[in-house]
Amino acid sequence: MELSETIKGRRSVRKFKPDAVNRNVIESVLELATWAPSAMNRQDWQFVVVQGLMKEEFLKISASAFDQFKPMLEKTFKDKPKIIEGMKLFFETCGGAPIIILAYAGKLPNGQDDVWSISLSVQNLMLAAYEAGLGTVWTDGVVFAKEKEINDLFGIQGKKLVCVIPLGYPAEEPRKPPRREGVIQWIGF
Ligand SMILES: Cc1cc2nc3c(=O)[nH]c(=O)nc-3n(C[C@H](O)[C@H](O)[C@H](O)COP(=O)(O)O)c2cc1C
Repeated sequence: MELSETIKGRRSVRKFKPDAVNRNVIESVLELATWAPSAMNRQDWQFVVVQGLMKEEFLKISASAFDQFKPMLEKTFKDKPKIIEGMKLFFETCGGAPIIILAYAGKLPNGQDDVWSISLSVQNLMLAAYEAGLGTVWTDGVVFAKEKEINDLFGIQGKKLVCVIPLGYPAEEPRKPPRREGVIQWIGF
């Protein structure tokens, strides 16, 4: 696949087949994730790959996170209860993904969380997954609501959870959102 085809073809997938994903495939996707640029080449990122019973434990936390967003969603999608129902289901199931990947940022020397480097590596991950026929979606609602509970569940300390990425074979073909115009400013041309 051409790089441009991969970049333009990747979509956020929120419905997955239950089919297992071979560990070798996940490893090669994660290996490509680690080829992203990183601040001062620190490569200070960490990925936690979860399936099985621990994923079910995570989903309990995720399901409980929905309540925190409910009032806001009810206001935003007043006449669209189906959208709210769909979001609730996604918090409860992560779209049925057989795998979830937690993406953690390390710290820069000045103490800041290096959210930038991990974000670049997650983009690599999502593109590599797409090339391997897999679907992904960056999710962070659950992080905002339940970061501590998630870290406690997986015994992670001293790192910043940036997003949770469900991974699996897609059971939907999401529509391609059009691109916004006018986002480039040319100076000196
Ligand atoms: C910083 C960031 C946060 C996001 N958070 C969520 C989220 O919590 N839940 C979700 O379903 N999608 C989330 N997304 C996915 C976006 O909704 C998605 O990328 C966007 O709608 C464009 O669709 P596409 O990825 O198919 O191009 C997030 C994406 C980014 C970059």
